[in-house]
Amino acid sequence: MKKLPELPSWQTLQHHYQTIADHSMQEWFATDSKRFAHFSLKLDDILLDFSKNRINPETISLLVKLAEEAKLSEYRDTLFSGGPINATENRPALHTALRDRHNKSLMVDGRNVMKDIQAELHKMQVFTDQVRENSWRGATGKPIRDIVNIGIGGSHLGPLMVTHALKDDADPRFQCHFISNIDGAQLHRVLQKIDPEQTLFIISSKSFTTPETLSNARLIEQWLRDKLNTTDISQHRVAITAAPEKAKKWGIQESHIFSMWDWVGGRYSVWSAIGLPIALMIGMEKFYEFLDGAHEMDVHFKESEFSQNMPVLLGLLGIWYINFFGCPHQAIVPYADELNYFREYIQQVDMESNGKSATRANTLVDYMTGPIILGEQGCDSQHSFFQLLHQGPHFIPVDFILAAKGNHFQEQQDMLIASALSQAQALMIGRHDLANHKMIPGNRPSNILFIKKITPRSLGMLMALYEHKIFVQGIIWNINSFDQWGVELGKHLLPDILDHLQNKKENHKQDSSTAGLIQHYKSDSK
Ligand code: F6P
Repeated sequence: MKKLPELPSWQTLQHHYQTIADHSMQEWFATDSKRFAHFSLKLDDILLDFSKNRINPETISLLVKLAEEAKLSEYRDTLFSGGPINATENRPALHTALRDRHNKSLMVDGRNVMKDIQAELHKMQVFTDQVRENSWRGATGKPIRDIVNIGIGGSHLGPLMVTHALKDDADPRFQCHFISNIDGAQLHRVLQKIDPEQTLFIISSKSFTTPETLSNARLIEQWLRDKLNTTDISQHRVAITAAPEKAKKWGIQESHIFSMWDWVGGRYSVWSAIGLPIALMIGMEKFYEFLDGAHEMDVHFKESEFSQNMPVLLGLLGIWYINFFGCPHQAIVPYADELNYFREYIQQVDMESNGKSATRANTLVDYMTGPIILGEQGCDSQHSFFQLLHQGPHFIPVDFILAAKGNHFQEQQDMLIASALSQAQALMIGRHDLANHKMIPGNRPSNILFIKKITPRSLGMLMALYEHKIFVQGIIWNINSFDQWGVELGKHLLPDILDHLQNKKENHKQDSSTAGLIQHYKSDSK
């Protein structure tokens, strides 16, 4: 296969970029009164307006050509059919199967994984019903009220983001807490808020080897034993893992272990039993709605032609700016409190998936890949980093994410939406002034994702939209979006440094900066 920059469409796009880079979006709006209609798409409760982009119809057809030449549809088939899309680990990435509740069969290594998925959903259903109906009780006979998720990365960010987003759908009798960091301050804060007699903690770790998670779990288990004055804390603890043997060795009984599988990437795992905290908070029926929303987006991604396909268009627009305009950043700015943790969540999904330099052919790329994601709640970000978006020499495309129906004060809701729309407009029109310090260049692009209301279903759709956008980009960049070898080195170096900190080793093998900092820590932490 040809290298990406050698593809005919890539070269045509480079030429096309030269011809339209100086054109203004405002001019295009002035000459085409239907630009919004031409460059927007609706799928169920989500509207995507991509008209405020530096594109004309030819840009879209050239980008679509690029997707075709990169064989996107063949790779998409591999993804959905369970082929080894994660080539470096020779396995599928089947998050789409987790949310497909249509009794089909899908064979992986001679095993129908759909049966496993259904069995696990059933186990989740039984367990969440027991907890929510108060029939699952703690060691002293009291029902569960505090749910503590202990996990990190994909075993944390999805459940954190979604439980926050769906707070209004949650049963108010329950509180969900999260412990991810190995910083004892976080653990301490959570322990102060929970009632040991009514606490269920979930050890959430695909590998069941992650030191942050296991260390936090060990401490919270000891805390529970002390507080409850018993060694039997089994009613207060469940685990979710793809390594059940390790969980059993830890001491967790089989019936308290929920399975996930090697063929689900950690950052794509919220649709599996990793979503248990969500199911406990909102109930299984709503959890199914969440899965169904994601499935609806899967079907759209799988079946719509590229020029009408939301994830494909978002992916291609990203490539247009990253590779042709040379903009390595992407801002994600939700104007909805529900999406408070959306940027954090997408940061892992995007940057851990596409922050890569090796191609699938085991060569190195000579073009940019995954964007640097930044973002923050709408109005808050206007009063922090939007200054740079408007006047900085950098040019950062923005995804504005809006929810039409708020849950509370209508007056505030109108103001919130007006804020988002005015920022997107300001980025586009700019302001011309003789004084340079007042001059705002404008012509800066943005997408608007307008969701009717944040519900389990629409949230599932939104998350799957971004997952597939990231997939599209990974395919075009010819990288494997489903491994994460880059995070291994730091994990590998940690034990040695820890040994030095704890005086188990002498300081001779470290570079002088690390050695100096170890000494500094030893004296300052006394
Ligand atoms: O950061 C590396 C990583 O492996 C992520 O991909 C994963 O989500 C996270 O660590 C947690 O891993 P585990 O679920 O195995 O504890």
